[in-house]
Amino acid sequence: MNTAPIIGFEAAREYLNLLHDPVASMRSLYERRGPLVVLGPVALGEPTKLHVLAVGPEFNRQVLGDPAKFRPTGLFLRGPTNSAQRRVRFGLTRMTGEQHRQQRQLVMPPFHKTAVRSYHDLMTGITTQMLDRWRPGQRYDIYSEMRELTLQIASAVLFSHDPAEALPLGRLVEEWLRRSFAGPVWLFPVNFPGTPYRGLIRHAEKMEERILAMIAKRRRSPEAHNDVLSLLIRARDDENHGMTDTELVGQTTILFMASFETTASALTWTLFLLAQHPAVMHELMGELDAVLGGNGPTPEQLPQLKFLSYVIQESMRVLPPVPYTVRAATRYVKMGPHTVPTGARIFCSHYLTHHLPDIYPEPERFRPERWREIEPNQYEYLPFSAGPRMCIGAMFATQLLQISLATMLQRFRFTVVPETRIDRAVRITMQPRHGLPMMIFENDRKFTASEVRGQIREMVTLP
Ligand code: HEM
Repeated sequence: MNTAPIIGFEAAREYLNLLHDPVASMRSLYERRGPLVVLGPVALGEPTKLHVLAVGPEFNRQVLGDPAKFRPTGLFLRGPTNSAQRRVRFGLTRMTGEQHRQQRQLVMPPFHKTAVRSYHDLMTGITTQMLDRWRPGQRYDIYSEMRELTLQIASAVLFSHDPAEALPLGRLVEEWLRRSFAGPVWLFPVNFPGTPYRGLIRHAEKMEERILAMIAKRRRSPEAHNDVLSLLIRARDDENHGMTDTELVGQTTILFMASFETTASALTWTLFLLAQHPAVMHELMGELDAVLGGNGPTPEQLPQLKFLSYVIQESMRVLPPVPYTVRAATRYVKMGPHTVPTGARIFCSHYLTHHLPDIYPEPERFRPERWREIEPNQYEYLPFSAGPRMCIGAMFATQLLQISLATMLQRFRFTVVPETRIDRAVRITMQPRHGLPMMIFENDRKFTASEVRGQIREMVTLP
């Protein structure tokens, strides 16, 4: 195993690969160099921070389990001092230490089991509205449809149960996300009239203004609303401190951002995997028939849908919606044979961990039934990450997936359009780069897989 750092021209090439396709680049580094790979400077004396790829449960535990030594690091442009751009991106994902602990305590309650259960009807209602719009025999881009579905659900639950108030804000945040990842704002981050960067800053101001107006309205009549924003306004920590308006702006934006694209990806990949595995689909329909008999699931029925849970777990194992997490070392830390300096960026790959054959035999095969026998620990199976910064929306996301899938699959049969090319795009989430065209039919149970092309074939063995 070669543990020497990669430097110079070779490092430059690896950095470019990492930017272009992090999943392929990390897999190739792991296959060539083993579980700990250090990428060093491109040129002598150059200030590039070390980048370290650390693969496997033990490194996941060391890095994700110890937030004092490994802090989160930014994926969004900071924006000028005192700007809305700084405030809207400053939520839980960016906070550290005592501030993170205190704010996490305040943000958690709307994502506990009982609170999540109370979102059941909203989730069912919005899914049913989407299905009423679909026409059998038609072709849909399922990724766009799932984005729209999760955007509507997240807007309703987080911002307002009134779609006229919630949706415009949801769309503003979606647009902010798009602008935040556009190449030109990173290549030319100059705050000049007409630049995309200035556009991003102005957009953040508009978004902040709208959230502040919603906060003011809720502060005037605190009991009139039941959305997560209102719950956060009312939340108090151990010392009876609530959140400031600025904290509320950051937390709500981050919550929306963290929830809608991730769940859209999970839904899309699960529908894809099911459509490509007719035998699994038959077994799942057997369970849905037996437990639900054609109706939408009630909260009491969800725990009975065991095979559906295996399907969701297996889908997020094979194609994790968030394929990796990055941390920055806060001090000199020993990792394997290396001492990693302060500031080094550490990449923990959920994707590679989920494809380790020692933990998951035949890792590229989609086999939901494997979950009858295995019980991986939190550092071996980590679609929601692990440790003290683990996703707070895991229960919310799982319930959304269960309700939407059970409702959709009972009503329609999904078939991938034959010969579709399916490549991945990775920003924070992994999604199909060109969408996912599918035909939908009345559910006549004639499930058939289709021939597909592209990178998907490296990630999953298709029948
Ligand atoms: C399938 C859906 C989801 C997946 C795969 C997912 C995955 C993740 C992952 C991997 C992290 C850790 C990121 C890191 O450590 O850098 C995370 C954090 C987080 N997620 Fe999720 N997430 C999902 C849904 C949600 C939902 C629905 C919400 C809220 C409504 C949410 C809110 C958050 C928050 C606030 C954090 C930051 C926690 C902290 O730093 O303390 N996520 N999520």
